[in-house]
Parts: sequence; structure tokens; C-alpha cells
Amino acid sequence: MSEVVVIGAGVIGLSCAIKLQEHCTVTIVAKDFPAPFETIDPIAQINYTSPWGGAHNRWVPPSPSGENAREHAYALITYKHMKAIHAYHPEAGITFMKGIEYLEAPSIEYTSLTEARAKELKIEGFRLLAGHEFPDDKVSWGCAYDTWCVNPMVYCCYLLRKFTMGGGRIRKRELRKPEEVFALPPEELGLGRVDAVVNASGYGFGDDLNIYVTKGQTCLVDDLCPVTVTRQNADGSWSFCVPRNFDGGTVIGGTKDVNDWAAQPSMEVREKLLSDFRRTWPHDLGGGYTVLADIVGRRPTRIGGPRIEGEVTKGEEFIMHAYGLGGRGYELSWGVAEAVAKEVERHFI
Ligand SMILES: Cc1cc2nc3c(=O)[nH]c(=O)nc-3n(C[C@H](O)[C@H](O)[C@H](O)COP(=O)(O)OP(=O)(O)OC[C@H]3O[C@@H](n4cnc5c(N)ncnc54)[C@H](O)[C@@H]3O)c2cc1C
Ligand SMILES: *[C@@H]1O[C@H](CO)[C@@H](O)[C@H](O)[C@H]1NC(C)=O
Ligand SMILES: *[C@@H]1O[C@H](CO)[C@@H](O)[C@H](O)[C@H]1NC(C)=O
Repeated sequence: MSEVVVIGAGVIGLSCAIKLQEHCTVTIVAKDFPAPFETIDPIAQINYTSPWGGAHNRWVPPSPSGENAREHAYALITYKHMKAIHAYHPEAGITFMKGIEYLEAPSIEYTSLTEARAKELKIEGFRLLAGHEFPDDKVSWGCAYDTWCVNPMVYCCYLLRKFTMGGGRIRKRELRKPEEVFALPPEELGLGRVDAVVNASGYGFGDDLNIYVTKGQTCLVDDLCPVTVTRQNADGSWSFCVPRNFDGGTVIGGTKDVNDWAAQPSMEVREKLLSDFRRTWPHDLGGGYTVLADIVGRRPTRIGGPRIEGEVTKGEEFIMHAYGLGGRGYELSWGVAEAVAKEVERHFI
């Protein structure tokens, strides 16, 4: 059986490892592993993005010319997996609910998204909203659909348990380069010969010139919300809420600050996020907001989109890349995992 090392224990590394386990012996090597959210250090572990995500699935319609079609296919695969996990593992941290979107200045991807087109795209429970359902007259397009949210650390801990229960091994190590795995003495990792490495290091090594970070500040509140709401404003700013459930509160967001490495949350931003959201969703979330935490995370973004491809190095070693998921790591995770497993198996079998 092939020996595969997955670098990374974020949502991408964990999902890939579980999928690869069906046919290979898999070890995860990572600096950070999922743990209860309360124990994740906001400064020391800021580069570990998975704890800081919302995280919800927001359908991004492909353009009529086919842009985003790959990502949409990944999102559909993930939706199907989330449904199956939710049905058998209520403890996994997944909640299904309605998603509501409001747009001030919709692009062609949205204006062409009719109920018939949504059916073609297999978006379940889709309905265009009528004008009287918009929160104010700046919003000019809106829809509702069926979707899911996860409590990120509850979900990632579930994935880690599933992986180890299935015979997967873990090693807590920091690597300097993905290739280092091939050079480690086998006893260091308790492995035989390593046949392939999956590079699911998020921003990780940071030596791909196309990769950059998009900082997101959000505010975690104690209040519950029965739906996940997203508003895209004409000036490019966003307002959203992601109910984490499982005693994890609700995330109110959020900023998208390109190449901003500030690690400290801004109190001004917190106030703006809360007041913007209150305007977008004026329903009572339990009387004002009770703030639990201000969150800063770094989305591992990549020019040209996520890198999901195999590479044979100069030393004839096989590295399968799975990074650069930006703000969509959770919603694309199972689609990425299937693509990675297929490519790794194609390389060996
Ligand atoms: C504010 C915010 C909101 C978000 N909301 C959503 C959302 O609603 N929906 C959604 O789908 N996504 C959302 N995201 C994005 C999502 O969180 C990311 O896309 C996802 O977490 C990326 O996962 P990853 O596994 O690629 O990387 P990470 O979670 O960063 O994991 C990287 C792994 O690689 C390891 N690693 C890195 N370098 C090394 C090294 N040198 N040696 C050893 N190990 C190493 C790390 O320790 C870690 O285990 C959001 C992100 C932010 C910041
Ligand atoms: C996060 O990553 C950046 C870029 O690689 C690095 O400079 C910084 O030291 C890292 N932060 C931590 C806390 O590891
Ligand atoms: C592995 O992934 C990182 C992103 O985390 C990237 O910068 C790096 O170039 C990749 N490694 C290789 C060998 O390509």
C-alpha cells in the first residue's frame, strides 16, 4: 500500500487525509492540529486559518462563460458530503439552514441566476427574494437557498478523530519545506518509504509568488441566528453572519484586507461590523449583541485560484498541491479532497 504524508491539519489536509485513507497508508505532519476553539492562540496560531473561519457555504454562481465552474463543482461535492455526515454524525458540528443573500450591485453571475438557472446549477431550495423582502432600498437583488454552516473546531476535531480511528497516524512537526518529508529518517516519522506528499499547508511555506493573505476581522457574539446572511455592498465591503451553533456563538463579519498582516483586532472595525449587520438583519438576535471575542484570520489566497495539481520534483518525488483556498476552504473541502485522492491514485495505480 502506498505511504502518503499529508502536510497540514487544517480543513483541507484533514479532508484529503480521510479521502486518501481509502486506498493508502496516511500520516499527517503538521505544526498545528485542531483543538477546542478556546485553546487556540490568536497570536501564536494566527497562521493556522481553519479555527478563524466562519464557516458557512455560500453558493458562488459560475459566470455564463464558465469562470468558477471548477469551484462550483467542488462546492456541490462538499454539500453532498456535509449532508451525509450530518445525517450519521450529529456531533460533527454541521447545521443545515437557509442562506440569505442581499446584493447592492449584482454582477452578471447574479442577475442571470434565475430559479431555472439555479436548478441547472443544482442549488437546492433556491428562491429569488421580492423587493419587499430586502432590508433597505440600496439592495437590488436577493435570494434564499438551502445551505450549511459548521462550528470549525468541532468539525475539524471530528475529522481528526475519524482519521485516527481509521488507522491514520499523526506527527506534530514543523517543516521547512515540503520536500523535507522525503529526507527525514523513516524512524523519525515511523514510516517506511514515503511515496507521495500532499502539500495542504495553507499559506504555510509562502514561497509561491502567487500566494498572499487576505485578512478577515470578525466578531464572535453569543447570540443565535436561525439563518446565515450575506450582504455584498456596492463599495466592495461585506456584512455577514455565520451561526456556528454547538455552543460556539455566531460570527458577525467581516473584512477582506489584502496583504494586511496586522494581528490585533480593531475596536472601530468591531463597532462597524456590528452596526452594519444590525442594519442588514434588524431581527432581534436576543437583545443587543454579547461579544465573546474579536477574531483575526488570514485567508490563504492565491492569484489564479486554489492550486490543486500534482508535481514531480527534480528528485523524482511526487508532491500533490492542495493550497490557496482563500475564503472558501470549508465549502470546497470535499471537492478538493476527491480531486487530490484521484490524482494521487492516478500517479501510482
Ligand atoms: C475571517 C474568516 C472567515 C472565513 N469564513 C469562511 C467561510 O465562511 N467558509 C469557508 O469555506 N471558508 C471560510 N474561511 C476560509 C477558511 O477558513 C480557509 O480557506 C481554510 O481554513 C484553509 O484551510 P487550509 O487547510 O488550507 O489551511 P490552514 O487551516 O491554515 O492549515 C494549514 C496547516 O498546515 C500546517 N503547516 C503550515 N506550515 C507548516 C510547516 N512549515 N510545517 C508543518 N506544518 C505546517 C499548519 O500547522 C496547519 O495544520 C474564512 C477565513 C477567515 C479568516
Ligand atoms: C506567520 O507567517 C508569517 C509569514 O510567513 C511569519 O512571518 C510569521 O512569523 C508567522 N507567525 C507566527 C506566529 O508563526
Ligand atoms: C507548498 O505550499 C505552499 C503554500 O502553503 C507554497 O508556498 C509552496 O510553494 C508549496 N511547495 C512547493 C514545493 O511547491
